[in-house]
Amino acid sequence: MLRICVCVSGGGTNLQAIMDAIDAGTITNAEIVQVISNNKNAFALERARNKGIAAKAVSPKDFENRELFNEAFLACLDAVNPDLIVLAGFLVVIPPAMIEKYEGRIINIHPSLIPSFCGKGFYGLKVHEAALARGVKVTGATVHFVDAGTDTGPIILQKAVEVLPDDTPQTLQRRVMEQAEWQILPQAIDMIANGKKVEKEGV
Ligand code: GRF
Repeated sequence: MLRICVCVSGGGTNLQAIMDAIDAGTITNAEIVQVISNNKNAFALERARNKGIAAKAVSPKDFENRELFNEAFLACLDAVNPDLIVLAGFLVVIPPAMIEKYEGRIINIHPSLIPSFCGKGFYGLKVHEAALARGVKVTGATVHFVDAGTDTGPIILQKAVEVLPDDTPQTLQRRVMEQAEWQILPQAIDMIANGKKVEKEGV
């Protein structure tokens, strides 16, 4: 049984998609053992608690400096001995020590077709604003392994989504979530949980 820890910062719709996929049996051999957020007000924490899943907030604001936060965050992860760490809308810079300890076992969902519209400063609505500004006709989402860079790790899955002429950043974000993110993140987790070939071994 793959032990999953999901890291969140906001609404938690990707977390919800994972929980729903486990309930529906489209993810097998996996369980979410903990949800951690840097934001104590994240609705994602409420989603976890509603499902009886351990949910913790470890906020940088509660620590004197980033180093102390990084240590506390890593300790919170280590405590549940995860096989896989899923970054689902997690807006915190991943501590180097976490990459060293868990590289090959951390995945992230990004709301574009990497290598487009990714890297520093590309998160949330900013990604979709950039896609619309560039005038792309197709965008989508990417699940990738996390390495020391920003959105630079090996790609596991991608799914394309059409951009419509009257799209706003908000309508595009919603469609990318519904048609891509909420599909490929659970799919990637199920592949890893069942030993199916992914880009990089390590789990
Ligand atoms: C999603 O758009 C995801 O692609 C990005 O952050 C957002 C998180 O949304 N990484 P949610 O918290 O899963 O609803």
